[in-house]
Amino acid sequence: MNITFNESSRTFKLDAKDTTYMLMAADGEYLAHVYYGRKIPDTDMTSIMRFDESPFTPATNNRDRASYLDSLPMEYSCFGVGDYREPCFKIRAADGTSTCDLRYKGYKITKGKPALEGMPATFATEESPCSTLEVIMEDKPAGLEVSLFYTAFEKLDVITRSAIVRNVGDKAVYITRVLSTCVDFDTHEFDMITLNGSWARERAVERCRLHHGKQGIDSCRGESSHQNNPFVALCEHKADEDSGEVYGFNFVYSGNFAATAEVTQHKKTRFVMGINPLDFSWKLEPGEQFTAPEVVMVHSDCGIGKMSRTFHDLYRGNLIRGEYKDKRRPILINNWEATYFDFSTEKLISIAQQASKLGIEMLVMDDGWFGHRDSDNSSLGDWFVYEKKLQGGLKHLVDEVNKLGMKFGIWFEPEMVSPDSELYRAHPDWAIQIRGRELTMSREQYILDYSRKEVRDYVYSMMRKILDSANIEYIKWDMNRQHTEVGSFALPADRQQELWHRYVLGVYELMGRLTTDYPHILIENCSGGGARFDPGMLYFSPQIWCSDDTDAIERLKIQHGTSMCYPCSAMGAHVSDCPNHSCGRVTPFATRGDVALVGTFGYELDVTRIPEEDRNAIPAQIEKFKKFNPLVRTGDHYRIGNMFEDNSWDAWMFVAKDKSEALFEFVQVIGRPNERSRNIKLKGLDPDAYYYEESKPEEKLSGAALMYAGINVAKMWNVDGLYGDYVSKTLHFVRA
Ligand code: DGJ
Repeated sequence: MNITFNESSRTFKLDAKDTTYMLMAADGEYLAHVYYGRKIPDTDMTSIMRFDESPFTPATNNRDRASYLDSLPMEYSCFGVGDYREPCFKIRAADGTSTCDLRYKGYKITKGKPALEGMPATFATEESPCSTLEVIMEDKPAGLEVSLFYTAFEKLDVITRSAIVRNVGDKAVYITRVLSTCVDFDTHEFDMITLNGSWARERAVERCRLHHGKQGIDSCRGESSHQNNPFVALCEHKADEDSGEVYGFNFVYSGNFAATAEVTQHKKTRFVMGINPLDFSWKLEPGEQFTAPEVVMVHSDCGIGKMSRTFHDLYRGNLIRGEYKDKRRPILINNWEATYFDFSTEKLISIAQQASKLGIEMLVMDDGWFGHRDSDNSSLGDWFVYEKKLQGGLKHLVDEVNKLGMKFGIWFEPEMVSPDSELYRAHPDWAIQIRGRELTMSREQYILDYSRKEVRDYVYSMMRKILDSANIEYIKWDMNRQHTEVGSFALPADRQQELWHRYVLGVYELMGRLTTDYPHILIENCSGGGARFDPGMLYFSPQIWCSDDTDAIERLKIQHGTSMCYPCSAMGAHVSDCPNHSCGRVTPFATRGDVALVGTFGYELDVTRIPEEDRNAIPAQIEKFKKFNPLVRTGDHYRIGNMFEDNSWDAWMFVAKDKSEALFEFVQVIGRPNERSRNIKLKGLDPDAYYYEESKPEEKLSGAALMYAGINVAKMWNVDGLYGDYVSKTLHFVRA
């Protein structure tokens, strides 16, 4: 078992691959944090505990509890008893007061990892086993028990955390804050890395030095959001891609979240992450329990790159599920940027006819096929075929596409309702809203109250009719607005603040039904581009649309940021038309292909209308994707260039786990006269092995030379230097 308990020091030790995490039941039954970092063999590290650090600290055996609690490294701090740092847990008790004081009661250590009720979470597999520690805490006056769950993966540097709160008393208690993790680090010498952005420029990497006080990111938009991704890394100031200590945190949740790093009076750092306490409250009746979602914590002793590769391995092996988990995804063509709402059966078939000849494997019919939807101002919720547009019906279209040897996929936005829809006219009360208050419109739509089972049942029955009516093999599940006026007609006043979380649980429940009932259907998540690119969604769909910005150059940044914690093989990425619809940039067709092959790959253009030359390039582009996709799906990803620091170039690699081959991709973003030649050091190869670039088998170089001296990228073009903007190149290195 990789989790042990030292009876004499009352210390728990969790060993992940190269990581140790330690906690202890300290004096007074406080659950204290001892250590998190590189692996150590010792089972008792209580000697490093600085119980005596507070400014007003009296003798060890007669502590001034408030001072003590305000400096003790805590595993799960409560509000109201003298720990003034960012708390994890707060309540409103039956008497209206907020104080809670959870103390250690007992523990269980088990093999494997229990599932989290109603919630996505990582899981153990035979190849990647783990053990779980459950620490039981109690607060007798409040009648509460809280179980803290810690799972340590044996072959990955991963510790996960979550919590379950149980009402063991006889009165209802309101939980007003229930975070999922807290780590009290013994230093403040950290930089914080976050992924921030907006629509069409999601997950830009930002790095700042921590300072005294609180700093963090959050979402109170009802989804994980374009603006802040539920990911934070804390790293040593000197840490870079390849060296230094890094701690990565990612929340397995798709709704409101908060992550805060606080530098305290003693120059230590508290980091907490969980459901955003803003506008959160949960009434827990006697006998009931509440589950807080999971936080994945990754430790790396070799820089940011290793942290990312650990996340990638965990998510590919222990989070993503279903038939496509380890399979190449069909190469699709999506009609959104080709036609927007203006399509017909004939038009779609003409796209499919052309696409099938070029080797494209699936046609995806995007928004606009249902109700009477000709623009974004109607019909969401009316999941029946718009016969006037799709003449001959859905089955006819799907059959025709199938006859061409192609699969067929379809778009839904199941959580939404348009005011102009039969559904809204029949059930206006099903929209999330507050009685007597004007409801804000966004993209001309409202959000359905997914806390209500009858609403989910209705939407699902409509979806099922469509899915059962034709041979549908892919769903794009979209979500295109953020929450406002959050209220439910089905919840009593003292439960209205539960709606944010109940909504997310409702979405998960419906996605769970869909994946169970239609296991062969490939699901791609999407939210106005990439506003729900989070691990919660990866549990239900092995791929997520990365961004509505399909421009190859903008995508360099977006995909670079996304790769911080999400595997490239999950990134929805397509070759689209030029000038690009989001930013007007014109890039070579080859570069668009090279950037998209990092992700799921597909096309988002009218293949009947693009230049002949581009169309002719598609079969070879597809072959290239097929050739390298196994490396992208199973290999180790290395970021080499960084568009955030140098706008002129980007480069990355995928290296086979056995180091037998590697794909190197380079994009010259802006050609500069004095930068015609550049040496780039490769990464991840076996230094002792010899490699050749596939097109030049006679030229062999050691992995050491390729990594420590590098390659000259100017020579890749066989011209005098690197000319032009937006040119790309891929090199395939094979072990000799
Ligand atoms: C937003 C998505 O990101 C797009 O790809 C497209 O599906 C539109 N929604 C359709 O409304």
